[in-house]
Amino acid sequence: MARILIIGATGGVGARLIPLLAADAHEIHGLHRAPAQAKDLQRQGVTPHGGDLMEMSEDDYAALVSGMEVVVFSAGAAGSGADRTTEIDGNGPVKLIRAMEREGVTRLVLVSVFPEAGRDRAPSDGFEHYMACKKRADVAVAASGLDWVIVRPGTLQDADGDGMVRAGRAVPYGDVARGNVARLIAEVVATPALRREAIELTDGDTPVAEAVAALRRDG
Ligand SMILES: NC(=O)c1ccc[n+]([C@@H]2O[C@H](COP(=O)([O-])OP(=O)(O)OC[C@H]3O[C@@H](n4cnc5c(N)ncnc54)[C@H](OP(=O)(O)O)[C@@H]3O)[C@@H](O)[C@H]2O)c1
Repeated sequence: MARILIIGATGGVGARLIPLLAADAHEIHGLHRAPAQAKDLQRQGVTPHGGDLMEMSEDDYAALVSGMEVVVFSAGAAGSGADRTTEIDGNGPVKLIRAMEREGVTRLVLVSVFPEAGRDRAPSDGFEHYMACKKRADVAVAASGLDWVIVRPGTLQDADGDGMVRAGRAVPYGDVARGNVARLIAEVVATPALRREAIELTDGDTPVAEAVAALRRDG
């Protein structure tokens, strides 16, 4: 059992992660920005913490992560504008890392993006900016002293999925159900030996637990 904070708890991936972590008897905390979301999180057994990532300083992040054992960052600006992408997808994880290091919280699971995302479409400034912000966050995480895992999903589908994935340090690009992303994160949380790894992820034909076990370097 661990005390886990989900940043992005009300999102497509985050909301699907909550019942999986609850089933493993974890103590779950979730960041939300709309006051009305607090009751809904509480109903799911999640301790709500109000906060807007557009406004949060490193100190605010430090207060939020204090006492946590694992942090999952699955928030995103979701195409709501360049400034929001810069602050949420780019600066957010950077501030979070510094706050975790300050507070002695060591385990971070960051939801990033598949490197080949959007390569089959005409480039747009907004999407290129999004990819650059995600990469900036990945670089900061990988350079940190944390026990990090970066998850790089393919194109997200609004589906629960069937728990069958293709996950590895390099796999072909494809779609992935948000539910399968949540399952993989839950399995990563349950596997503390897996650390300092970046995992590309699509739907596939390997059970999540098997896919995560195959990535372990500790035998
Ligand atoms: N779309 C894709 O195909 C794709 C592919 C690969 C990776 N990703 C990444 O995967 C991650 C999860 O995606 P998703 O589909 O679960 O995202 P989502 O459904 O758009 O959820 C985003 C989450 O971030 C929260 N959030 C946004 N702005 C916030 C703010 N200012 N303050 C506090 N919370 C804020 C949202 O809260 P609210 O409930 O208040 O909106 C929500 O909980 C994201 O990092 C995304 O960039 C996406």
